[in-house]
Amino acid sequence: MNFKRLSDIDVRGKRVLIRADLNVPQDERGAIIDDTRIRASLPAIEDALTRGAAVMVTSHLDRPQEGVWCEEFSLARVATRLSEMLRRPVPLIRDWVIDVSWQENLHHGNIVLLENTRFNKGEKKNDETLAKTIAAMCDVYVNDAFGTAHRAEATTCGVARFAPMACAGPLLAAELDALSRALASPKRPMVAIVAGSKVSTKLTVLRSLVEKVDTLIVGGGIANTFLLARGYPVGNSLVERELVSEAEQLLADYPDKFPLPVDVVCGKTFSAETTATIKSVDRIADDDMILDVGVKTTALYAPLLSQAGTIVWNGPLGVFEFDAFSEGTRTLAKMIAESEAFSIAGGGDTLAAIAKFNVEKEIDYISTGGGAFLEFLEGRTLPAVAALV
Ligand code: 3PG
Repeated sequence: MNFKRLSDIDVRGKRVLIRADLNVPQDERGAIIDDTRIRASLPAIEDALTRGAAVMVTSHLDRPQEGVWCEEFSLARVATRLSEMLRRPVPLIRDWVIDVSWQENLHHGNIVLLENTRFNKGEKKNDETLAKTIAAMCDVYVNDAFGTAHRAEATTCGVARFAPMACAGPLLAAELDALSRALASPKRPMVAIVAGSKVSTKLTVLRSLVEKVDTLIVGGGIANTFLLARGYPVGNSLVERELVSEAEQLLADYPDKFPLPVDVVCGKTFSAETTATIKSVDRIADDDMILDVGVKTTALYAPLLSQAGTIVWNGPLGVFEFDAFSEGTRTLAKMIAESEAFSIAGGGDTLAAIAKFNVEKEIDYISTGGGAFLEFLEGRTLPAVAALV
């Protein structure tokens, strides 16, 4: 790729701003479930620190409301984990755009973590004023956030335009190199699994993805939207009603490419304690929530995965954090691990599922990107990458 890399730049004595993707999954009490993305961000940070830069790191965490700080979306726990990994203090700076006095205390060889950048008004819309303000804080901007490279936001795109120098960090560069190689001429049949709870942003990538793959297994909220499009009731389940007609159209255009669930595991509330009941997809009651797929469904997927040449996996099939609803994702993870196919997996929750079901070693390439790697697979130019060239 035709961009500058952090390793090409002399950062000694410079103020270096690293945009990382530290958007790690957390449980309901805020504890970090999987820290892969933090670990993957260390090489850029350590490199800049070792070479004598004053290092500022920022990231988003989830999708908070802009302009309103709240503990739920704070990077406080990430700062603690980062500090443990780096074995040095990592102060977290709140309101870092509004009050810039913290910069006076940032010295070379030191690091600060700048609070969730999506608290800043204008981050998501890539506001030019915000991007200029942030760009003025640094001499070198490093984008190392592959997981967010598909978002055109202030710290992923705008800052690259206005910073005195912009480059790619080692993680971003390595992900792009590895995925380009792995997906240049994938072995067929190619099976993609697109699941999880981020429905709308993923459903919109399916149309171009379905043309690239032989089978597209949908799960989570996306599968519910497809089931509704097929005319099945989904009760109280996570579903995107305004995308049902798009799902209907996809099923009509590609009738053989979407093997939909035939049975599911339902609960009455979104909680680990709710009773899990296996139901056929035509038997869902109004107060049921679909929280996993059933054994008949995973049996349907088994031959597709064992005969695949390439498998691309993004998103869990159910709420695998709750034991009673983890079986579908566990079975899927094992089937991918046992398949001879070249397997690529990525995304925050997917990384957590891979760790929980202990299949890291059997997956051929694990990406920190979820949506980003799906869009890369679609063949789209990622806006944050385009901003660096
Ligand atoms: C991800 O988890 O896929 C990335 O961190 C991007 O998060 P977003 O979908 O909230 O932009």
